[in-house]
Amino acid sequence: MKRLSFLKSIAGVGASTLGLSALSSFMPDNSKQADTFPSHLTGGVPDFNKVRKDFPRAKEIYMDNASTHPTSIYTAAAVHRITEWTKNDVGVPWWPAWAESKQECKNRFAELINADHEEIAFARSTVTSENDMLNGMDLTGGNVVLTDLHYTESIHGYKIRELRDGLKLKFFKTKDWQYTAKDLEPLVDKKTKLIAITLVSNVNGFLVKDVKAISDLAHANGAILYADIIQGVGAVPVDVKAMGIDVAACSTFKWLQGGGKGFGFFYVRKDLQDTVVRPSHLDGGVEFNYAPWVDKPDPSRDEIIFSPQKGPSMYEVSYPNYEGVIGALESLKYIKELGVTNIRNHVRPLTDRLAKEMPRLGYPSITPEGNESPIISFAFKNPAEAMRKLESAKIHVAMRFGNKMRISPSVFNNLADIDRLLEVLS
Ligand SMILES: Cc1ncc(COP(=O)(O)O)c(C=O)c1O
Repeated sequence: MKRLSFLKSIAGVGASTLGLSALSSFMPDNSKQADTFPSHLTGGVPDFNKVRKDFPRAKEIYMDNASTHPTSIYTAAAVHRITEWTKNDVGVPWWPAWAESKQECKNRFAELINADHEEIAFARSTVTSENDMLNGMDLTGGNVVLTDLHYTESIHGYKIRELRDGLKLKFFKTKDWQYTAKDLEPLVDKKTKLIAITLVSNVNGFLVKDVKAISDLAHANGAILYADIIQGVGAVPVDVKAMGIDVAACSTFKWLQGGGKGFGFFYVRKDLQDTVVRPSHLDGGVEFNYAPWVDKPDPSRDEIIFSPQKGPSMYEVSYPNYEGVIGALESLKYIKELGVTNIRNHVRPLTDRLAKEMPRLGYPSITPEGNESPIISFAFKNPAEAMRKLESAKIHVAMRFGNKMRISPSVFNNLADIDRLLEVLS
């Protein structure tokens, strides 16, 4: 519903009563924001020098986007608008407009990963969704196949089920920081219920190359494929259908440039919903068909009537994170204007230069050669000293797992940022 028709639909109530100034600065305008993006974003290859100006965080050399991606001025403005609404005008009847924004947010995410909008639920977090999936599956007597490049905190969720339910964990230990379907093959058997991968590793940026082959392997054994896509979506093309991904999850605070933590998306292939992946915390309505709740109880109906959520919302619980939805919607529009292929083409030369120059400076890479993601990591003999140097030059990267420096440039970074980092570390 467009703003005008929405306002007209609130018949008989004066504009001042409704606080229309707040309404007009909330959902409907927000949903039109993409129309007002400047010309450097619209049509063809964007001007990335101007994109840099959309991210005030680029005032310093920030290349830790794999931890938290900064928001653009547009996403920040959208989140600000909903905060202003909460501050000044909460209670204004905005549900029709809200419903539209909420659905548009899901539609845009579905489009980004080539899913159907009927396959997308809002999520609290990647790890939460992965656990919801596990809680909703019948894993009795089965095993799951994982790798040591899976997100470490998620692995805990599997461990709990091993201890509690006897679920067998089959672990592939990578030898050279990567793996293929062939590596996993010996671990998979007819008792395998699930193969879980992290599409792009948070450790070294390894992008799993043969996801479809891993999916085929899972399916041939009656299992499903889960992918943690948080380090990929928004930065590299993700096509859940072509890749054969059955269930996936992400938050928006990384490459989706969203406006805050604790909000994301959960994708569940349609035919798996409520069958292989059942909702684990049923949400929905409850009616009491007895006095004093109703004057005349209907004898043909139960006394307590449950109406659980249908469709992908069955995986949602209670209210979604409104601020998250509004921030994500704006970011999804921005990312669409930029184009994921353009984003990828912009960042590739940056990581390529790092891949070439860092080993020459004595820092071997732990990221496979020719890897197609914006994350690249290097091993350091003296990590503390390297971080001190970078901090004093106001260059932000991550040092993880002891001595592994993770550098993750994004749309607002450029080759000058890379050269400066190389200069400081040389
Ligand atoms: C690969 C990966 N998965 C999951 C997470 C955690 O995400 P969330 O907060 O959405 O659970 C992270 C965060 O760093 C991550 O890198």
